Amino acid sequence: MKRSQHQLAKVYVSRRVPQEGVNLLQDSGICEVTQWDFDETVPRSELLKQVAGAHGLFCLLTEKIDKELLDAAGPNLKVISTMSVGHDHLSLDEIKKRGIRVGYTPDVLTAATAELTVALLLATSRRLMEAVEEVKNGGWSAWKPLWLCGFGLQESTVGIVGLGRIGLAIAERLKPFGVKRFLYTGRQPRPEPAAKVQAEYVPLNTLASQSDFIILSCSFTPDTQGMCNKDFFAKMKKTAILINSSRGAVVNQEDLYQALTTGQIAAAGMDVTVPEPLPTNHPLLSLKNCVVLPHIGSATYATRNAMSVLAANNLLAGLKGEPMPSELKM
Ligand code: NDP
Ligand code: DGY
Repeated sequence: MKRSQHQLAKVYVSRRVPQEGVNLLQDSGICEVTQWDFDETVPRSELLKQVAGAHGLFCLLTEKIDKELLDAAGPNLKVISTMSVGHDHLSLDEIKKRGIRVGYTPDVLTAATAELTVALLLATSRRLMEAVEEVKNGGWSAWKPLWLCGFGLQESTVGIVGLGRIGLAIAERLKPFGVKRFLYTGRQPRPEPAAKVQAEYVPLNTLASQSDFIILSCSFTPDTQGMCNKDFFAKMKKTAILINSSRGAVVNQEDLYQALTTGQIAAAGMDVTVPEPLPTNHPLLSLKNCVVLPHIGSATYATRNAMSVLAANNLLAGLKGEPMPSELKM
């Protein structure tokens, strides 16, 4: 139902996002939209100023939604809609205390993120970045039997940390490469998704020691923070490869650097780091056996459009007091 002008809900959109989502908000007739219409992150002071009195907030994973922000927003704030599936940037205790509803964007980004994770795995295991560099810098002299060899997926064991939506989608995409065994770990066995790829539930330590490729696709929580540390790397095979498309802080990067430089593990591919962006002089960027991407898991045009639309629809449903297409259960 349309509200009259003076009843319009105040909505703040914290970034330039695919226009489809913004159009939905603007055409809804129930809200007036203010937007930080730039590609770069909104300065914190501006965000705190703009959320004051807002009824709805459309945000990204770059905005920390904590007590300070919620206090700055004040009691009008009824709904937060994040254009992400990850929600570790939201202080859920504080949000719940205030009775604020949260929308997020699962499923629509699963395929794109799984695809990128496979691309990163192949780029890392078959040393694509090094190979391209050699072509450009004249290092390519002849076809050499021992040059730029890597590790293949055929007959390998792949360990997945977090067989959730994205973890399963990664396994499904890797299966046709001839993977012999899938192992997975999590807080409890997940028989239904596991059956789709014949994955075996094992403790983290077993996954670490038996896998040729380890893929991190878990959510970031206090339990997963720093999960991949020196003890974890010590258990990995020297020929094993670590791929992270979850959140940077699941990996202890100092320990990873040690593991990569001492030959404890073969290579790593990271779509996520701490911090983001990773400073250009960061030690990991000096390593040939470490491929770092700038958090592009969900970066296809169609996926980002779908995320923007879903986030807008979540926000509108929240403002109307209706069920959201994707509401986070708290
Ligand atoms: P899901 O909720 O479907 O999956 C999360 C998985 O994490 C579950 O399988 C869960 O398993 C597992 N998990 C939680 N706690 C632990 C733990 N202590 N140890 C091991 N596993 C654990 O989410 P999605 O698959 O949709 O997304 C996963 C994450 O991927 C997001 O939270 C986000 O951080 C990241 N992501 C990154 C993107 C990128 O651009 N690189 C894009 C999209 C998402 P269980 O419940 O059985 O413990
Ligand atoms: C998410 O949605 O959590 C990703 O990290 C970005 O798409």
